Amino acid sequence: MRSFAPVFLSAVVAWLELAGTAQGGNFYQDTEMTWGDGRGKVVDGGRGLDLTLDRTSGSGFQSKSEYLFGKIDMQIKLVPGNSAGTVTTFYLSSHDDEIDFEFLGNVSGEPYTLHTNVFTRGQGQREQQFRLWFDPTTAFHTYSILWNPQHVIFAVDGTPVRDFKNHEARGVAFPRTQPMRLYASLWNADDWATEGGRVKADWSKAPFVASFRGFSADACVWDGGRQRCPEGTMEAAAVAGAGSGRGWWNQQLSDMSYRRMRWVQRKFMIYNYCADAKRFPQGVPAECKLR
Ligand SMILES: *[C@@H]1O[C@H](CO)[C@@H](O)[C@H](O)[C@H]1NC(C)=O
Repeated sequence: MRSFAPVFLSAVVAWLELAGTAQGGNFYQDTEMTWGDGRGKVVDGGRGLDLTLDRTSGSGFQSKSEYLFGKIDMQIKLVPGNSAGTVTTFYLSSHDDEIDFEFLGNVSGEPYTLHTNVFTRGQGQREQQFRLWFDPTTAFHTYSILWNPQHVIFAVDGTPVRDFKNHEARGVAFPRTQPMRLYASLWNADDWATEGGRVKADWSKAPFVASFRGFSADACVWDGGRQRCPEGTMEAAAVAGAGSGRGWWNQQLSDMSYRRMRWVQRKFMIYNYCADAKRFPQGVPAECKLR
């Protein structure tokens, strides 16, 4: 798992360049704790935020702003050691739509599951799950959601792992009208998370800690019923042209990024709703058959 083909590495570098160099925000300014009664703490003068989970409670925070499209990055270092039963989340959500990253813990030495989902009009059932190609507990890694009018692209350290496209023309709902807030949490899901709930959290190892830093939202902020985009968001994209990768507003996967995503999916995807015919006896959802 540790050896990468050189072509893969250079592709990662290319994506990172396209992704730009937005600086991490300040957690005091940009976020607020939502629950956990002191179990979530801003650290390092605002540059980081630690969430903890003990037998009594987990914790969570949210962004102060709501966004309507943007590129959201977060660096996360997940609960190390025996993280069985814990779930760390990082997601965008509105009343009806949601774009989810969830990290399902495991017993020491066994891999986490990266779980992704997209809800539109309250309807989810679009899970795709992956193994990670690194240990997500020893260092910070960047998890990104690129959300523009045509795509929801999930990326890990700049590598796209999933691209949910706007297929509204083919009758598939797309999150496009409701501003979303960013949420993150660490909580106990030992009734289902690890091997369907068979493996429980080991509370002798509590408190569990997941660390966040480098939150950046290059995004259109929803402000008093108006969408305010960073200057040049649409202009830059219009000049650069769709797919050129300057500016997230028009960004889509280049042929090279698309091939890289397919490579990741072939090697690391462990569940795909589109391949779960048993679950959809009437046929898999429409977007599964569209490219
Ligand atoms: C935990 O590890 C086992 C063994 O490698 C694996 O089968 C299982 O899917 C993992 N569970 C999660 C939640 O990732």
